[in-house]
Amino acid sequence: MSIPQPDRVIIFDTTLRDGEQSPGATLNAEEKLAIAHQLALLGVDVIEAGFAASSPGDFAAVRTIAEQVGTLDGPIICSLARAVRQDIQTAAEALQPAAHSRIHVFISASDIHLQYQLRKSRAEVLAIVEEMVAYAKSFVEDVEFSPMDATRAEPAYLYQMLETAIRAGATTINIPDTVGYRTPKEMERLIQGIRTRVAGIDQVVLSVHTQNDLGLATANALAAIEHGVRQIECTINGIGERAGNTALEEIVMALEVRKSYFNPFLGRPSESDAPLTRIKTTEIYKTSRLVSHLTGMLVQPNKAIVGANAFAHESGIHQDGVLKHRETYEIMEAASIGLAENQIVLGKHSGRNAFRTRLQELGFELNEADLNKAFHRFKEIADKKKEVSDWDLEAIVRDELQVQIESGFQLEHVQVTCGDCTCPTATVTILKPDGTILTDAAVGTGPVDAVYRAIHRLVQIPNQLVEFSVQAVTEGIDALGTVTVRLRQDSRLFSGQASDTDIVVAAAHAYMTALNRVHRHIQNQPERPAPTGILF
Ligand code: KIV
Repeated sequence: MSIPQPDRVIIFDTTLRDGEQSPGATLNAEEKLAIAHQLALLGVDVIEAGFAASSPGDFAAVRTIAEQVGTLDGPIICSLARAVRQDIQTAAEALQPAAHSRIHVFISASDIHLQYQLRKSRAEVLAIVEEMVAYAKSFVEDVEFSPMDATRAEPAYLYQMLETAIRAGATTINIPDTVGYRTPKEMERLIQGIRTRVAGIDQVVLSVHTQNDLGLATANALAAIEHGVRQIECTINGIGERAGNTALEEIVMALEVRKSYFNPFLGRPSESDAPLTRIKTTEIYKTSRLVSHLTGMLVQPNKAIVGANAFAHESGIHQDGVLKHRETYEIMEAASIGLAENQIVLGKHSGRNAFRTRLQELGFELNEADLNKAFHRFKEIADKKKEVSDWDLEAIVRDELQVQIESGFQLEHVQVTCGDCTCPTATVTILKPDGTILTDAAVGTGPVDAVYRAIHRLVQIPNQLVEFSVQAVTEGIDALGTVTVRLRQDSRLFSGQASDTDIVVAAAHAYMTALNRVHRHIQNQPERPAPTGILF
């Protein structure tokens, strides 16, 4: 059997679609655009920018990304669409400005989905596949088809469905392990079965979308590559529905670090040094931080590749080994994912030029107005903190980016008195969207509680605080602290994140960001229908 083209692995990033389906990870249009620009810099082949028909907001985000990121030499911009005419038409409309566009049509394939969710017979679903893939093809050349819950479908029926989609014009066939059920060996057998039993499969790109419910997403995706799969659907930091998706950084670095192992599966000599993906690995760390910051989804410290401990050695034996020869305990260099040594470069005497130059070296291109704001903030921090590291700079720029794109209520001042024999009391001043300035005070069980109560008295936005966490950006007593909060409202989660040398101030800003998101959600009601609501 001939190996399907191409001779490398296509990276299909779905951070902005499946990733955004993580509870609490809702992104606004500007945030999606910022992530899409970074994904393009990272070098992904396909950006699944959203599910255009699911809401006006998603439509606008896909359209803007198609316009601004979907350039001639940019990535393919994709929109998900149910196998429904209206969805496909809406996706085509949103994607229209992109130089390279793809419509991703999906419908369920397993009996459990057909019987309980779609309430359709197998024959009826096959007819829909034929009609809707052909309909998508009438808009774009590049059509991807996904039989949802493929890994629990009856194989003979799945093969029939795939043949139907290929005949109707699909150019990529994606096999979703929707509920993260398969093991790597089973995945291998499934892919082998598809490659030997489905007519025309060699004429299309075969892809997998593996969810992480059993923690097997990356292992399943890699097993699939060994058996001829050439596109992997993945997300930054592995975010996504429930336990998330295959993490982009894990797939890419596995293919990079174990290139000689994977080369033969892609028809190359094992000693070939040519990369197996088009990803610029030195952009991985920055992308991970940006996604974590904008979604409010913290990266667990022991997360492979991008976790804070991924390159840290605690045991004396390991430290001794690494100091003598790095490769004794490290299989990749931190620099290969763009994690430079935490260089101390700037302090309170550094000028605007040094600041701008360092930001450029870190990959941040700010316009004059944003640079001024970020510089002002840098000076404030440099006054409190002797040395400002690259990681501090990143936090400053990201806070500024977020503040700039979060309109709504703004925190003007916060002041707290607390101690072991006083009642924590906070005074807060807020600028309302209509320009009025309000001040109020409150007491609480601790300083953060007091601040949150005072803010709540002023903004009166209903919410329930479900998560509050603080992380140090760097080591040391004067470190910046990053606070992440998550609020629940209308059974949805909204997150906010902010950094400051004073964690009470960071906590206040993070709360305001999350509150503004709740506020916007309330204002935009009714919002998107649940993406899983299948309407045939
Ligand atoms: O998990 C899934 O089945 C999906 C498909 C739409 C690809 O996200």
